[in-house]
Amino acid sequence: MNDDTRIDFSHKQDILTGSCLAVDKDPEILSLRPTRFADYIGQTEVVEALKIAIEAAKQREEPVDHILFHGPPGLGKTTLAHIITHEMGGNLTTSSGPSLEKGGDLIGILTHLEDRDILFIDEIHRTPKIVEEFLYSAMEDFAVDFVFDKGMHARSHKYRLNRFTLVGATTRVGLLSAPLRDRFGIFRSLDFYSQPNLVEIIKRSAVLLKVTIDDEGATELAKRSRGTPRIVNRLLKRVRDYSQVRADGIITKKTVEAGLSLEGVDEKGLTDLDRRYLKTIIEFYKGGPVGIEAIAATLQEETDTLVDVIEPYLLKMGLVTRTSSGRKASEEAYKHLGLSFQKRMFQ
Ligand code: ADE
Repeated sequence: MNDDTRIDFSHKQDILTGSCLAVDKDPEILSLRPTRFADYIGQTEVVEALKIAIEAAKQREEPVDHILFHGPPGLGKTTLAHIITHEMGGNLTTSSGPSLEKGGDLIGILTHLEDRDILFIDEIHRTPKIVEEFLYSAMEDFAVDFVFDKGMHARSHKYRLNRFTLVGATTRVGLLSAPLRDRFGIFRSLDFYSQPNLVEIIKRSAVLLKVTIDDEGATELAKRSRGTPRIVNRLLKRVRDYSQVRADGIITKKTVEAGLSLEGVDEKGLTDLDRRYLKTIIEFYKGGPVGIEAIAATLQEETDTLVDVIEPYLLKMGLVTRTSSGRKASEEAYKHLGLSFQKRMFQ
């Protein structure tokens, strides 16, 4: 299904592991990804804007403008890069900011791109500055300046590139430098998916996986999937196993509840790390406000994992708030964890 991916340079990627949001490598989950807009559910405004940009570019026989996607992991940034490639009729080369260590890594990739090809750079905000500088002229003029030799023998050569489209993905748009950000013609943020959209995705995936799920089962699974298709598909596989071994193979509300409680996923879709994050603020820091570095140190987790993976959904659910003096747990967070909330007068 993803045979339009010519080269994958993302192997050196330093992914956020240890979480259900880690980048997919499971071929069965990868095969659930839609490859055409017609099969893509949700993000309707983003999809409509992309369809128009692609159609217009094709009519003019030009590459589509460079595109930057922003949003939490698992919402479909990579999937959209695959779909854009498919719709443009080019090849996809995937890479990631941290895996591009030297200018030569990027130049090697750029010089192999053909007209209408898509270069996807995940976590583009983590591209080293020295590599990022090659992107400027590549994006603007479809050219890179090679420098041969050093010192007084240094010579520069302009290398023309084919007219490609860069699709960048970032969880932290604020960390992108202005010169890079300004070179993207299209900028789109992806938001968490609605329950009805998740139910639709679950039903589509269930058909592809040849498993039966009833309406209540699909609704329950959607509720526990953090508004994220990648989680939907990962958890669908877990409840498929559970229903097959502990029931009659049909996924129902009951098997979703039982299967996901074994996975440590609660009624709101929170995982063990989410709950530990909230408990740290509540029990260790008396509800906050507390700085993210202090929470990360107490949990012995990477700050980036908390900011990129854990916090977006907790903020969206109103379980935590971000103030100028730090993070605070909401009354709802206390309630969810079964802890008593006492409003403090001076915080
Ligand atoms: N699988 C993962 N994301 C999807 C989406 N947005 N639509 C349909 N299937 C999906």
